[in-house]
Amino acid sequence: MAEHVWLLPLKDLDDDARAIKLGEIAELEVLEGQRRFVGEPLRMVLIGLEEESRHPFAIDANGSAVGVLTLQTGAATLAGWADDDSVWLLSGFLIDRRLQGKGLGTRAAEAAVRAAAKLTAALGGGQAGVVLSVNEHNPAGQAAYRKAGFEDRGQYLGGDAVPQRTMYRPF
Ligand SMILES: CC(C)(COP(=O)(O)OP(=O)(O)OC[C@H]1O[C@@H](n2cnc3c(N)ncnc32)[C@H](O)[C@@H]1OP(=O)(O)O)[C@@H](O)C(=O)NCCC(=O)NCCS
Repeated sequence: MAEHVWLLPLKDLDDDARAIKLGEIAELEVLEGQRRFVGEPLRMVLIGLEEESRHPFAIDANGSAVGVLTLQTGAATLAGWADDDSVWLLSGFLIDRRLQGKGLGTRAAEAAVRAAAKLTAALGGGQAGVVLSVNEHNPAGQAAYRKAGFEDRGQYLGGDAVPQRTMYRPF
């Protein structure tokens, strides 16, 4: 049975708490063969903290960061969605390699949808759900999203022409 996960909104933490989380995030790693699927965790989070459209989260279990993800407004076409603004983009999603395969990724993806709905309620952006793109050769990513209720909306050839699946879950 997987542990519960919490999404900590890094922009909302006070400076001390954020510094502790950033230290933990700096220790996160993915497997060698997964590096092509996702960016470097600390770097992605630091970029997210600087940009108004991005909301970076630490994925916490048992009080420490086990992964990260980012929700972003105005960027859904990057995942093959027809427009930028009607849904949130989920990106920069990973679980530390030592803790994968325990259900944490599935729970974090579910939690991301709840967090996005809350952000829409708070900020009034009018988004209807969450979209992401996942590499066709990333079965773990596709499985985690599918188990979290995301549905496959077809193939998307990204800017680099690498075949991706567009996956979507409404609130
Ligand atoms: C994708 C990721 C976040 C999933 O996290 P996780 O904690 O391992 O996910 P879960 O434990 O919830 O597993 C989800 C499903 O994937 C399956 N899975 C895990 N590794 C797999 C693999 N190599 N091949 C096929 N399925 C796999 C699991 O078996 C599970 O399905 P099941 O419960 O039916 O067995 C994690 O693998 C990761 O960080 N990968 C590297 C970064 C990445 O690819 N991010 C996504 C970019 S879009």
